[in-house]
Amino acid sequence: MNNLVYNKNVLDHFQNPRNMGVMENADAEATVGNPTCGDVMKIMIKVEGDRIEDINFQTMGCVAAIATSSMVTEMAKGKSLDEAKKITNKDVAKALGELPPIKVHCSNLAADALKKAIESLNKK
Ligand code: FES
Repeated sequence: MNNLVYNKNVLDHFQNPRNMGVMENADAEATVGNPTCGDVMKIMIKVEGDRIEDINFQTMGCVAAIATSSMVTEMAKGKSLDEAKKITNKDVAKALGELPPIKVHCSNLAADALKKAIESLNKK
C-alpha cells in the first residue's frame, strides 16, 4: 500500500483545509467534476477590483482532491484575476509536494475550477 502514502503537506491540507465551506454572495462560482472518479469540486470567489479578495471551496472527493482544493485557494487569494488564471493543476500539485502516482488525476480539478469561475465572471 506504499503507493497511497501522502506527504505531510497533503495531509495537513486534508486535515485542516483552508477556506472550506459555502461563501455567501460570491461574485462567481464554478463546479467541475472529475471524469475519472466522479468526484466534484466547487470554487466560489469574491472579487474586489481585479483581485481575488476571498475564495472558498467545497469538494466531494478524496484526500488528494481536498488537499489540492485547499492549496489552490491559498495560492489564488489576493492574486489578480490574470495571475490566478495562470495557476495550473501542475502548480498546485507541485506546491503540495508529491502526490502518489495513482492520485495525480485528483489534482486535475482545482485550477480548472478556479479558471472556470474567473471566466464566468468575465461573461457577466
Ligand atoms: S479519487 Fe476522485 S478526486 Fe481523487
